[in-house]
Formats: sequence, structure tokens, C-alpha cells
Amino acid sequence: MVPDTFFIQTVGCQMNVLDSELIAAELRRAGYVPADGVRRADVVLLNTCSVRAHAEDKIYSALGRLKHAKQYNPRKIIGVLGCMAQKDQQLIFRRAPHVDLVVGPGRLHRLPELLQRVADGGGPCLDVSLDRAAEDRRSVRQSFVPFTPLRPAKTPSAPHQTMVRIMSGCDKFCSYCIVPRVRGPEQSRPAAEIVDEVRRLADAGCLEVILLGQTVNSYKDRTGPRTIALADLLAMLDRIEGLRRIKFVTNHPRHITKSLLEAVRDLPKVSPYLHVPAQSGSDAVLRRMKRGYGAATYREMLDRIRETVPNAAVTSDFIVGFCGETEEDFRQTVELVRNARFKNSFIFKYSPRPETKAAKLYADDVPEAVKRRRNNELLAIQNVISLEDNQPYFGRVVEILVEGPSKVARKRAAVITKRATAGSPQPGPFSEEEGTVQLVGRTVCDRIVVFDGPRELTGRIMPVRIDKADAFTLFGSTVDLG
Ligand code: SAH
Ligand code: SF4
Ligand code: F3S
Repeated sequence: MVPDTFFIQTVGCQMNVLDSELIAAELRRAGYVPADGVRRADVVLLNTCSVRAHAEDKIYSALGRLKHAKQYNPRKIIGVLGCMAQKDQQLIFRRAPHVDLVVGPGRLHRLPELLQRVADGGGPCLDVSLDRAAEDRRSVRQSFVPFTPLRPAKTPSAPHQTMVRIMSGCDKFCSYCIVPRVRGPEQSRPAAEIVDEVRRLADAGCLEVILLGQTVNSYKDRTGPRTIALADLLAMLDRIEGLRRIKFVTNHPRHITKSLLEAVRDLPKVSPYLHVPAQSGSDAVLRRMKRGYGAATYREMLDRIRETVPNAAVTSDFIVGFCGETEEDFRQTVELVRNARFKNSFIFKYSPRPETKAAKLYADDVPEAVKRRRNNELLAIQNVISLEDNQPYFGRVVEILVEGPSKVARKRAAVITKRATAGSPQPGPFSEEEGTVQLVGRTVCDRIVVFDGPRELTGRIMPVRIDKADAFTLFGSTVDLG
């Protein structure tokens, strides 16, 4: 019999991207083969995000488009996975009755079994974790099973660069945020298990690992005689032969410890790159957000970073238009962005999330037009800083890890494949026949570098000379090492 094919569509953060990668590995192991699009796949899985309403709207419209998909393939199974599955549960079946399967992020380990059940006619099927507000804390924790299946050492998409989960869930309960509800309680993975996994990856050619956690720097392995914090884990990973770079995201400002900064400074493989979201520059807003620090404490933390790791690239997230944010509050955020000189910032308009403390306690009282204006203003200020921050790179030679063809190159390649299959000649400007494509790589500080070179450079750590820089990208060329 022809094996079933699958296609996974992912929205959301790196956690979801990693989950999708692990799911794909699990499905391959179970005998499924990847399909090249939603239409042809027997199993279509949407791995979803609930962090803002916009992310959910995207999923529901994608589900709408899948409404008639089963007409052409009665065997087709449609599954909704991830954070929105945990949040909306039965509502998904009501809004999209053609969905066969809803699986929360804490239940992904059961996916192959559940798919089989649906294929055998046992659907529709729902598997989610317990509500975090439930009485019995132990049962809640047990119902959120960290998804850390043993994966093949070589990830087909990017064997040289791999994300590794070191913790799951979040206990911070910032008042605006849905993540603690959908991802469950904070659970750190035992260090020995992480070290084993990274060693296997490095043996198979992985050069860079990106350690993932919602508040990655609150990592604590308490299973042994001595607590292992992130700084200790970094030291253990730094010793792994073959591995060249270690990055970690996302940091919480309250857990930027002296020993963590010293680890970043002293361990040669650890990237001097810190994503530490501030969210706002106003004490009143930070208090309502329940972030657990004020603007002055955040600034002191930045000073400590600059003192210990002067070359560190620091990046942040901001929410504009949070409940009750006045123009004065917003000015304080602007001032923070001006003074902090982040390498870049991700800026979001506040989106009320049901069941969160902010949604229950405060009115979403900043008009959409004001949110949009503040978003654009903050972005414009950050962009000027990002551009200034990139300018000194002009003329410099930087070392990058080549991640592969850039988005532009990939799009062009898709067009060429389409045209080629349609029988028309290949277009001129794309010099695939000369073997050169636009490649993208990253510096150790997570700066994006674009340059032309042969596809085969993918996965190499190599020098590139920077010829031009804009706010988001450094443009370079290969260096003749003679
Ligand atoms: N764990 C990380 C990131 C969580 S989600 C952290 O603590 O920083 C990523 C970003 O989305 C957050 O940093 C925040 O800026 C934004 N975000 C979270 N909830 C949001 C909401 N309800 N509306 C708008 N942005 C939100
Ligand atoms: Fe959400 Fe706050 Fe946890 Fe980050 S730390 S995931 S913003 S609750
Ligand atoms: Fe979204 Fe879930 Fe990540 S809500 S931001 S995919 S943890």
C-alpha cells in the first residue's frame, strides 16, 4: 500500500517550529512520508499559536480553506495542534466541523497513536492537558508532558543548526499572556539528557544549537545533588567537541544573573547575544503587566550586561497600547528604546487574550488607531538605531554560519521549478546555471548577512566582507583567502 503523506503548517514562535520538526521526525518514524503541499497530503496538521488574536484568525481562515479538501481525498485527516488547540479545544470542532483531531502542546507525544485511531474511524479525537486553574497541581503538571522525543541526529531541514528545548512551560503569568495556560507549568529538562542530545547532534555535524525556553534563563535542573542553572549547563555544552556556537532564547530580565553574564563572557562557544524583552518603559504599565520589575531595574540590568559583556547584542520585545497606557507611559517606552540601543526590537500591539488577568481586570481602552501609531513610531525609532548599529560593520570581515539560500533565492527557485515543469526556458537573472545563489547566514551576534555564493557553502562557518548595511541586514561578499 502507498504510505500516507503528511504536511505541517506552522505559525507561532520557535517552540512551535521545533515542535513541528519533532512531529515530522516522529511521523517519518511511524512510516508517513512528507508531502509537498496541503492539497496532496493525506494528513494536514496545523501547528497553532494563540499569543495574539491575529495568529488565531490566520488559523481559522486556513481551516476555512480546507473545508472542501476531503471531497478530493476522503482519506484526508485534518489536525489542529499546539497552543490554540489547548486554548479552544471543542470550539475548534464547532467552528470547523471538518477537523478530525485536536491535540494540545502537552499531548504531542500521543500524535501517531491518535492519527491511527482517526484513520481507523475512531475520530474525531481531542487530547488536551488539564486546565491550569484546576485544583490538583500535580495532575495538571502530569498532563503537560514535555515533548522531547529522541530525534534523528540529522535534521533534514538544517543539519548544521538545531533548536534544542531545555525547558517547557512558563510560571510567570504576565497579565497579558496566554502562554502559561497553553504551555503549562515550567519544567526544566535534566541537564544530562540535554548534553547527550547535543553531543549526538554535534557528532552528526551540527555546529550551532539554539537552546529554547519561554524564560530560558530560569532553567534549573534539580534532579541531581546540586542544582544546575543555565550558566552551568552552558559550561557543560561548551565542552562538546565539534559544536561551535550556542545561543539561547528567551531571557527574562529578572534572571539575568552575574554567573550567566560571566558564562556568556567567558565561554568561547556561547554567543554574546541576549534577547531580554522589556515590554514597556513605564513603571505603571509594567506593574499592570505583572512583569516583576520596573524600568529602573531593567536599565540596571542593561548596565550590568554592558559592563560584563560589552560586545553583546541585546534585543527586546515591546507591547504598545496595553490597557491604560497613556501618552506619557508611551513616551517612557520611547525613552527606554532611545537609551537602551537594542540591536532590534519586536513590537506588538496589545491583543486581549481571554482568561488572562489583564483581560479580566482591565479594559482594552487604547483605540486601535493609537496602538497602530505607537507601534509605527516605536518601530521607526528602533529602525534608526538598528541602522546605526549595523553601520560600523561596513568594510569589516565577519564570521558567519551559512544557513542556506535566502528567501528571495528560494522564491526564485520555486518560480524556476514551476516554469521548468511547464517547459519554458529558465529566466536570465537567476544564475543557477553558474551555481551561485543568494545565501543567508548569521553572525555570532545573530546579525543576518546576505551574500552571493554557491549553494554548497550551506552549513559552513566562514568569513564574509560586509559591503552594505541596512537596518535589518548586512550585505556581504565572499572573502578570497588566497
Ligand atoms: N517568553 C517570552 C515570549 C513570549 S511571547 C517572554 O517572556 O518574553 C512573545 C512576545 O509576544 C512577548 O514578549 C510579548 O511582547 C508578546 N505578547 C505576548 N502576549 C501578548 C498579547 N496579549 N498581546 C500582544 N503581544 C503579546
Ligand atoms: Fe508570557 Fe510572561 Fe511567560 Fe513570557 S514570561 S511566556 S510573556 S507569561
Ligand atoms: Fe504562540 Fe504558543 Fe509560541 S502561543 S508564541 S506558539 S508558545
